[in-house]
Amino acid sequence: MMPMARYPNFRARRLRRNAGIRRLVSEHVLSVSDLIWPIFVQEGDNVSTAVSSMPGIDVVTLNLAIEKAALAAELGIPLISLFPQVDNSKKTRQCEEAWNPENLANRAVREIKRQVPTIPVMLDVALDPYNSDGHDGLYRDGEILNDETLDCLTKQALSHAEAGADVLGPSDMMDGRIGRIRQALESEQHFSVSILSYSAKYASAFYGPFRDAIGSSGMLKGNKSTYQMDFGNSDEALRMVQRDLDEGADAVMIKPGMPYLDVIRRVKDEFKVPTFAYQVSGEYAMIKAAADNGWIDQDTAILESLTAFKRAGCDGILTYFAPVAAGLLASASSV
Ligand code: PBG
Repeated sequence: MMPMARYPNFRARRLRRNAGIRRLVSEHVLSVSDLIWPIFVQEGDNVSTAVSSMPGIDVVTLNLAIEKAALAAELGIPLISLFPQVDNSKKTRQCEEAWNPENLANRAVREIKRQVPTIPVMLDVALDPYNSDGHDGLYRDGEILNDETLDCLTKQALSHAEAGADVLGPSDMMDGRIGRIRQALESEQHFSVSILSYSAKYASAFYGPFRDAIGSSGMLKGNKSTYQMDFGNSDEALRMVQRDLDEGADAVMIKPGMPYLDVIRRVKDEFKVPTFAYQVSGEYAMIKAAADNGWIDQDTAILESLTAFKRAGCDGILTYFAPVAAGLLASASSV
């Protein structure tokens, strides 16, 4: 620390006295370019189903997802991430639907690419939307099978790349997945598909509403603690990030977001690579519930929470508030 001038030579309030001066000295600024918008998709036509644990969020059919993609492009949101809610009838213990070229996620990417070619699209790579056991990996006799799951994830990743996904987000937390997926992408000439790895993904209570949205909560046998990280750990997060970068990840993610800002900061300081965080469904639900009750101011809470991610070192944030935040940022900059 530099020696600091004391009062009254230093009055901190001089640089806070009006909005212009505050803006001038602000260290971290949120912009629409920092936002990734997760969108839930379901089968059917012209249907929008509210997610009860995420007020304001809907699971939409493809025609409406295309409208959202167009809105994202119009707002300047740089990336959307699609999450399919797969019909239970298509969920199996082998998860074959995950790499079906005609599955919902693949059809959605193809159609969005056709109708809104300017919006980049990300898809998750993990088996849980397709798994009748609700897990991200194959589940047998109470165990998650790591290496067998890698074969499935590789096929899934290739099917998503072939459908036109720009970014793949492996969110399964199996060991060895990034290397296998990168190798498969290279050998199939998908040289420019990026991997944004969910590197430090914690076993978290904050994913509950998401599992309601994609319909995996009722299916889940046990919990995900044998593959997702223990929330007491942060050295381990550095090791996960190092490993994923070595295996071919282009960018890394920490998830959940707000309770893990310390991890984001450590990752950014250590690796200085594109670093993202996911403000997950439970975080969305908390802010939304408090705001809907009139207990906090929604708009300010959104901007404050997202700016906190920037301050912690994030290059971007996956957030269900993306379109709302983009609107707030646009109206703030036009004042
Ligand atoms: C599934 C996946 C999850 C999320 C993103 N991909 C849930 C989980 O791991 O159980 C969580 C997103 C959220 O809560 O908003 N692999």
